[in-house]
Formats: sequence, C-alpha cells, structure tokens
Amino acid sequence: MTQAKVIDGRALAAKIRGGVAEAARRLRYEKSLTPGLATILVGNDPASKVYVRGKGRACVAAGLASFERSLPTEISEAALIAEIEKLNGDDRVDGILVQLPLPRHVDPRRVIGAIDPAKDVDGFHPLNVGRLWSGLPGLVPCTPQGCVALLRTVHNDLSGAAAVVLGRSNLVGKPLAALLLASDCTVTMVHSKSRDAPAICRRADILVAATGRPRMVKADWIKPGATVIDVGTSSVALPGGGSRVVGDVDFHAACGVAGAITPVPGGVGPMTIAYLLRNTLLAACRRRGLPAPLP
Ligand code: GUN
Repeated sequence: MTQAKVIDGRALAAKIRGGVAEAARRLRYEKSLTPGLATILVGNDPASKVYVRGKGRACVAAGLASFERSLPTEISEAALIAEIEKLNGDDRVDGILVQLPLPRHVDPRRVIGAIDPAKDVDGFHPLNVGRLWSGLPGLVPCTPQGCVALLRTVHNDLSGAAAVVLGRSNLVGKPLAALLLASDCTVTMVHSKSRDAPAICRRADILVAATGRPRMVKADWIKPGATVIDVGTSSVALPGGGSRVVGDVDFHAACGVAGAITPVPGGVGPMTIAYLLRNTLLAACRRRGLPAPLP
C-alpha cells in the first residue's frame, strides 16, 4: 500500500511567521511602525478563549502589537458595535478580529459589517468578500489562504485541477472556492444537500474537507494520489475518558489512498494564525499607502 506524504503545516506556518517577523522589524526601523491586531472575545467559550489567546501570543512573538478585549456574554449588539467603532478610529490598531461564534442575541452580520473593511483581517466584511470574488485587492480570509499555501507545497501549478470543496461556510468553503477558481482550478462545491457526495469527491485531484463532521471523509471518497486538505478540528471523546482533536477525514485510512494529506492537528490550524499575522501586516501597510515588505 502506498503511503501519503504528510504535509507539515507547522513548518510552513513557522516560515510565514518568520517572514512576517522580519517584515515587522523592517517597518519598525525604517518607518517607526508597529502593526497592531485587536481581538474581541465575547463570552466564556473555552475553545474560543484558547484560540484568541493563541492569536495574541503569536502577534507578540512576531513583533506586532496585540490589543485584547474580553466582553461579557450579555453585552448588547449596540455596545459591541460601539467597541468596534472605537477600534476603527484607533490608529494603533490595523486589524480587528471578532472571534466567532457570537452569542445568539447578536447578529454576526451586523457586527462584521461594522468593522472598517481596511482593518478586516478576517476578510469577512461584504466589501472584502465582493473584492475576492471580483479579483480585486482586498483582505482575504486566513484559513482559505492557508489551504492554498499548503496545496502549493505539492502542486506547482493548480491550473485545470479538479478541486472539490466539501462545506459551504462563509468562513472557509466559499472563500476557498473563490481562491481555487482564481488559481484556475475546476471547482465543485459539495454540501449537505448534494447527491452522492462520495462519488463527487472521488473525482477530485484536490479535496478540501471543511464540514466540521469528525472523520466524515472515508478512504473510498478519495481518488488514488489526490491531495487532501483537512480543515476540521472536532474534539471527540476517547473510550477510556478524555478527548482528542480529529479532522473531517479518517486520516489513517486516507493515508493509504491519498498522494498527500494534512494532519490534524498540525496541518491547516497553524496556517490560519500565520495568515492572520500576515493580513495584519498587509493592512498596516495598505492603510498608509506603504509597500508591504513581505516575500
Ligand atoms: N472562529 C473560528 N474560526 C474563526 C476565524 O477564522 N475567525 C474568527 N473571527 N472567528 C473564528
């Protein structure tokens, strides 16, 4: 049985973070500029707390400034939007990230719509979504950028590749489809209403799973030699107690069929943070009309 190449997301993310740190050093010495990221966490969700803390630490490690706002679950939508407007007007802040999901009484569309599009480092504002689909420069969501960078470690040229994106979220599936299309892939989106998802997936040269359903993709969904990118991170209980994080793909079975595959953890996850830092640096430069000193 062949054994898939395991794509090392930690190593690639470290390289990108190193590039951001070097660019930040140059901006500091040459322009007296320190790009800053503000994160907003609403409520006490333990997983969200861990993610936001990780983002703040990664900023500081790369020489960026981190501003962390932690707000109570009961905060009103109007008060949350007022916080965002303060950050929109704060020149030390180049990127604003509101951790999702938000409490149910808050409409995420209105919250995301309140972020200055020039500081929207998640790339979720409708203006940036439209720019992405129109091929205009804007801020592009981090996880999809990370997926494409991982694919490019395996494929020099994505042109003409049959790419299947499993999952149609605004955070990952839809923006990733736009990026793959811009790279000249033939893109198919598979979702919960698709008929015979396994058969569609089996035609993919590139299969990206972003459904949040643990180990949904089985070995017989994968074309032999295909590249598989696993965006899922689900916590599953272990029989003996405790839990572990798994992806949307049955990793061990998939390794016998795929040509290359990302592990969970250590695949897409670290890339999301790396691109968040990169987007913050880009936003800092673009807001000031400076060229970004990035590779
Ligand atoms: N929650 C899960 N993923 C993300 C992300 O990429 N950005 C934000 N803001 N929240 C998230």
